[in-house]
Amino acid sequence: MNKKKIDVYSLIKLEVEKLKKLGFKTASLDCRMLLSQILKKTNTVYTHQEVYISQNQILKFQTLVKQRQKGKPVSRILNRRNFWKREFILDEHTLDPRPDSEILIEAVLRHFPEKNQSLKILDLGSGSGCLGLSLLEEYENAQITFVDTSKKSLKVVKRNSLLLRLKGKLKYINLDWHSYDWDTTLLNFEEKTKFDIIVTNPPYIPSNEIKFLEIGVKDYDPTLALDGGNDGLDAYRSIIPRLKNLLKPEGKIFVEIGKGQEDLVKKIGLQNKLLFVEFKKDLLNIIRVIVFCMK
Ligand SMILES: C[S@@+](CC[C@H](N)C(=O)[O-])C[C@H]1O[C@@H](n2cnc3c(N)ncnc32)[C@H](O)[C@@H]1O
Repeated sequence: MNKKKIDVYSLIKLEVEKLKKLGFKTASLDCRMLLSQILKKTNTVYTHQEVYISQNQILKFQTLVKQRQKGKPVSRILNRRNFWKREFILDEHTLDPRPDSEILIEAVLRHFPEKNQSLKILDLGSGSGCLGLSLLEEYENAQITFVDTSKKSLKVVKRNSLLLRLKGKLKYINLDWHSYDWDTTLLNFEEKTKFDIIVTNPPYIPSNEIKFLEIGVKDYDPTLALDGGNDGLDAYRSIIPRLKNLLKPEGKIFVEIGKGQEDLVKKIGLQNKLLFVEFKKDLLNIIRVIVFCMK
């Protein structure tokens, strides 16, 4: 196939302008990421870099930009997203991991600074596995249990764990935290051994607010990963009362929450014999994580 040498700037200029007109703030980066995919580059190409490209590849690149114009996030077009220190694959069954959730990883690291411990960690509502697998990267002797009601998302966690080549004891449990006695079911899989760390980022958007979210979220993230019921708190009400049965006495719980939910979720924790440890804010100064313990 005939390839010509051309600089990236000339290749993406028109496409960047189209995206900018539609209000996309990261138009240049978006186009360079899409072009890198077409050129099978492992790094994102630079604007002033020269590349070899065929006419067919140019057409494919323009097709990807058209998807972006319709609001599809670049991570969904590429089916991958950087989180913490690695790149995770995604599909339509997994939430697109958010940078805000990295606050939760930071909080765990602050509370458990000793990296060689053989910690037992539960990732409740694991999606792509970004939380549990990032923790495994930090605590290489850890055992991680991934729980999700979506079997298809658990398959993505398995694929990510293979791609990332992280060693460790991993378990994948398909379970619904709204089901009766789900904590007992989970402990049976664990031969009754409880957890040192529980992390969870459950769905927390009130059902009737989903339609107001941006297209990239409401049309591409699975509803199962977003919908927190009438007031957004359904998952917390099912999860939190059972956590004391799953945690070791010295263990800690790290719960991601939506904007403004801190007082209500803290109350659910206190009503269920957990002790409040602290709130953690994200980069926009929004309280994003609550830490609980048992004593
Ligand atoms: C907000 S996503 C979080 C995914 C991932 N932990 C992350 O931070 O990117 C919530 C996850 O909870 C799962 N989930 C929703 N309802 C559930 C239920 N009743 N029982 C177990 N998992 C559930 C969803 O499938 C989804 O993977």
